[in-house]
Amino acid sequence: MKPLLAANWKMNLLRSEAEALAAEVGQHVVEYGDINFDVLVCPPFIHIAAINEILAGSPVALGAQNVNQNGFGAHTGEVNSEMLKQSGCSYVIVGHSERRANHSETDELTRLKAESVISFGMTAIVCLGETLAEREEKKTLQCISKQLSGSLPSQFNGQNLVIAYEPVWAIGSGLTPNLSQIEEVHSEIRSQLNKYSNDANDVRILYGGSVNPANSKTILSVKNVDGGLIGGASLNFNDFWTICLSVL
Ligand code: PGA
Repeated sequence: MKPLLAANWKMNLLRSEAEALAAEVGQHVVEYGDINFDVLVCPPFIHIAAINEILAGSPVALGAQNVNQNGFGAHTGEVNSEMLKQSGCSYVIVGHSERRANHSETDELTRLKAESVISFGMTAIVCLGETLAEREEKKTLQCISKQLSGSLPSQFNGQNLVIAYEPVWAIGSGLTPNLSQIEEVHSEIRSQLNKYSNDANDVRILYGGSVNPANSKTILSVKNVDGGLIGGASLNFNDFWTICLSVL
């Protein structure tokens, strides 16, 4: 399976900075030639159109960090899948733990968002992850299974769905699970996916949470880890590119 390296820029970068970073990523991917991994950048909504121009004709994919599950209508402040598709997005992150925790997003809402994304021909990146309390109470696999069953879109396959396992306590903290903990969760996700669909073997399962240039090689070589969702380290070109090359 071709690994996916996804940059989640969160609410960072002014437009000029975002354009410069996207241009640098795009240029390196092109110069590198026939790379054996996919690269995705997910800027804040307001920069998507500008980054789409910067990346025109580039193999670097463009994604959004969130979406509203509805069609057009009276939803002040929201952006829907059709708008994202028209602005050049091919991926949308849904159910990130920051959305779940800070915007009360549920599994059910995450599923509706994923289904909307898929209905417009894009790929949904569905995020899952346990809190520190859940890990300490040995409820990690239970939590992951519950989130997965509640958030999975009804029709999925390796083209329209990516799962990102991101332990809440590892995001932005500098902490990561050990390799066997990562392997355990990814293998659980893989076997659950296979229960829900005959077409699940190609669904990429990313790890996210404090991936950096020093730990990426070991984390990204764990079985069933098919790439990474990178937050903080994706804001620095050299760090992000080092992480990308570590899958080779
Ligand atoms: P981090 O964020 O790499 O800064 O920990 C990852 C994420 O939240 O997607």
